[in-house]
Amino acid sequence: MTSKIVIGNLKMHAVGDILKAYQSNIVDEEFGLLVPYPYLSLAKERLKESPVWVGAQNVSPHQQGAYTGQVSAKMLTELEIDTVMIGHSEARGADVALQLQRAQEEKLNIIYCVGEDLFAYENNQREQILIEQLSVLDKVDNLMIAYEPVWSIGTGVLPEYKEIKETVKMIGEWLLANKTSNLGSIPLLYGGSINNKNCEEVLSQTEVDGFLVGGASLKPEILLEVVKRCR
Ligand code: PGA
Repeated sequence: MTSKIVIGNLKMHAVGDILKAYQSNIVDEEFGLLVPYPYLSLAKERLKESPVWVGAQNVSPHQQGAYTGQVSAKMLTELEIDTVMIGHSEARGADVALQLQRAQEEKLNIIYCVGEDLFAYENNQREQILIEQLSVLDKVDNLMIAYEPVWSIGTGVLPEYKEIKETVKMIGEWLLANKTSNLGSIPLLYGGSINNKNCEEVLSQTEVDGFLVGGASLKPEILLEVVKRCR
């Protein structure tokens, strides 16, 4: 069992073969995989003998109705999916507060993504942006926060370790002052260009509780190495 949380975000890739590879590679490692909607049931089926859990990458802000193409929190519950990511920079819209509400109504575990873009980073607006993004949180039960600087996602560029450390600390302090008296129950993850080569050092230098991994999770052997190195 890993002591840190590792979650792979498979994004909008056709992951049939990748799921097969995960199925045949996995021994007894625990981690999460966020798969595109159409693969949720298949992923659960393929990984049912393993400690790997499967989550969704997004959810509709609406409960039900005439919203063609959208997927509701209730549908995720019916598919026995109990974790959903909300606010990823590739999917973040104006309705994130409603999405959080819908997920909470269904008692889903939430991975809530926050992070500044390059403009905000370069113009010293990081803290302000993060506070705006955190402010929409209502309840903080069953919640993880993933700090993902937009400019680090898929670019191979990481912030300095001390920046990750300070930012995650700031997020924790803000949550403690404004949203919860039990910060210990909210894992604080980092995401952005994490792979098997850099994860150990990031972990040791930043005190994060784990990682959200995008590109590197498309190769099961790489994500599994991240999981092992994060034990
Ligand atoms: P990356 O993506 O690891 O490819 O940078 C992270 C993410 O989008 O969650």
